[in-house]
Amino acid sequence: ASMLRTKRLGHELKVYESLPSTQQKAFEIAAKEEGAQEGLLIVAETQTAGKGRMGRSWLSPSGKGLWVSLVLKPSVTLQFTPQLTLLIAVAVCRVMNRMEIPASIKWPNDLLIHGKKCAGILLETSAEDERVKLAVAGIGINVNLDTDDFDEASVQRSTSLKIAAGRHIDRESLLCDILYELEQLYDLYLQKGFEPIKSLWEALSSTLQQTVTVETLSGKITGKAVGINPWGALIVETSPGECTPLYSGDLKSPF
Ligand code: BTN
Repeated sequence: ASMLRTKRLGHELKVYESLPSTQQKAFEIAAKEEGAQEGLLIVAETQTAGKGRMGRSWLSPSGKGLWVSLVLKPSVTLQFTPQLTLLIAVAVCRVMNRMEIPASIKWPNDLLIHGKKCAGILLETSAEDERVKLAVAGIGINVNLDTDDFDEASVQRSTSLKIAAGRHIDRESLLCDILYELEQLYDLYLQKGFEPIKSLWEALSSTLQQTVTVETLSGKITGKAVGINPWGALIVETSPGECTPLYSGDLKSPF
């Protein structure tokens, strides 16, 4: 029985037993002559080379998580892609909160439960003349992983929905709920712009009002996270009245 309630996201679905990475598969399909339509969803039971942000790898044990990539084709210029990343984190977080899982968003798009990461989002785009041709949203959720699925180091900073909620979670209905929420927010974004999404993100984030240290390509920046700017960047107040927008990077200290 399908629990898919979306109008267009996830109707074209490709499920694989094992893939190196669902991201790679989405780009492969898009590169073919027929290309990829908006809404195409790639799902893998396990990934042998799951990719995280900043060149990291992503643990994807078989049957225990949601390892998916969703193809989106928003007609926006490249500078707006950080907005999309935040939108996806908001959708995932709202669904978890409705399940009474106390997830919050660590900038830019990690989902944390009591300070431990339970999901991550990797948005990759291809563009032509500064316009986004294809955005592939990779979503990785530790759904039913047990403590012993993580190695010693990552168990300190990672968790799963099952560990947090103390119950097995149905992956199919979780995925359908996320796709539905994502479509609602995506339509809102296409109609009303980023402003409503930005407010939702700010309300769900555990990063705002914290002193943060961010590793960027040009060095370390420390300051107070005070908000999100209209392009989706984190605004960091480095000294009174001095603000720097950060479009991507890695938060080193508090969530
Ligand atoms: C991060 O937090 O660093 C992002 C993790 C993204 C993982 C997902 S799992 C599905 C998709 N395919 C990948 O290879 N990565 C993303």
